[in-house]
Amino acid sequence: MKNLEEWVRYMKTCKIKGFGYAKAKRLVKNEELQQVVDTNDEWIKQRTGIHQRYISEDENTSDLGAKAAIDALNKSNIKKEEVDFIIVATFTPDQMTPSTACLIQEKLGLNGQQVMAFDVNAACSGFLYALQVAHSMLACDQAKCALVIGAEVISKQLNWQDRSTCIIFGDGAGAVVLKQEETTNRMLHYACSKGDIDGVIHSDAPLPRTCFTAQSLQPSYIHMDGSKTFRFAIWAMHSAIQAVLEKANVSMDDIDYIVPHQANARIIQSVCRMYEMKEDKVYMNIAQYGNTSAASVPIALAEMWEQGILKEGQNIILAGFGAGFTWASAYIEL
Ligand code: UT7
Repeated sequence: MKNLEEWVRYMKTCKIKGFGYAKAKRLVKNEELQQVVDTNDEWIKQRTGIHQRYISEDENTSDLGAKAAIDALNKSNIKKEEVDFIIVATFTPDQMTPSTACLIQEKLGLNGQQVMAFDVNAACSGFLYALQVAHSMLACDQAKCALVIGAEVISKQLNWQDRSTCIIFGDGAGAVVLKQEETTNRMLHYACSKGDIDGVIHSDAPLPRTCFTAQSLQPSYIHMDGSKTFRFAIWAMHSAIQAVLEKANVSMDDIDYIVPHQANARIIQSVCRMYEMKEDKVYMNIAQYGNTSAASVPIALAEMWEQGILKEGQNIILAGFGAGFTWASAYIEL
């Protein structure tokens, strides 16, 4: 029987080696939405902080995910052939099966080599769930180099007549390359979920049918109780951040940046007030992108890296929440 210390020696450490992102091609400003649904620029800016979002016209989730993955690989100087694990967080996959991860594997030209690929769905917390799964796979040596991707084309599930949902969401993708590497830098995770029997946020899959029933399928749209979600979000973000601060045994003074899920600027500002935290310690790009669900945290990370805001040696916290309800966080020493 081996003792715990011996087992721990088998655990591998890893680091994020590259960040990438992709925007959908079509920029849609609030003013343009006014032509489509009963809303206005002033209301959207005041109640959400959103000024514009990118909406896909002909790109699907795997197209954006593949673009973000290529960007992350280029910035990491890691050859795509080194990738042996692809995990995609999405609740808007191209199709029910094969997974978006398999489609991205093919788009990257990696179908001829040994890669494990699958999707996770934890809605807007998805990227943080995927990062935790990828880290575990690398730690126990089941994989050596992972692409962790958050990708969404939410616009295909939006009812453009429902002003309580269509104004907040946007399309996009973000990715990181996670590679086994000897390091003393820590990466700690927290994730939780709560079965949501009230369906506070939901989007239905097609109903079961038999081949003898001529049922026409109804399109599935996202439905959301915004106020309930809003109240839950503030509690969940705070609780997730607290959980990793305690796990890492650090205080908010030790943290260089918080990178939150970009759902609503007012949610992020409320969390800042709870920690009496300066807003410049918290990255916000919701004005440009809207809420891109599982893509929002990795897009923010990639932008921060590109702008030189993130640097090696910093300590950051990622935090998010979403339908399920799910909520999650990560403490990362870069
Ligand atoms: O990331 C996934 C999870 N999703 C979220 O985190 C979303 C969390 N929730 C929210 O961000 C907000 O609840 C919303 C942005 C969705 C809504 O903002 P709100 O401040 O909660 O507005 P409300 O639903 O309480 O509505 C306030 C008023 C209502 O009018 P009356 O009844 O006061 O006359 C609405 O009809 O604003 C009206 N309204 C709008 N007016 C113009 C609602 N949506 C719109 C709109 N444009 N788009």
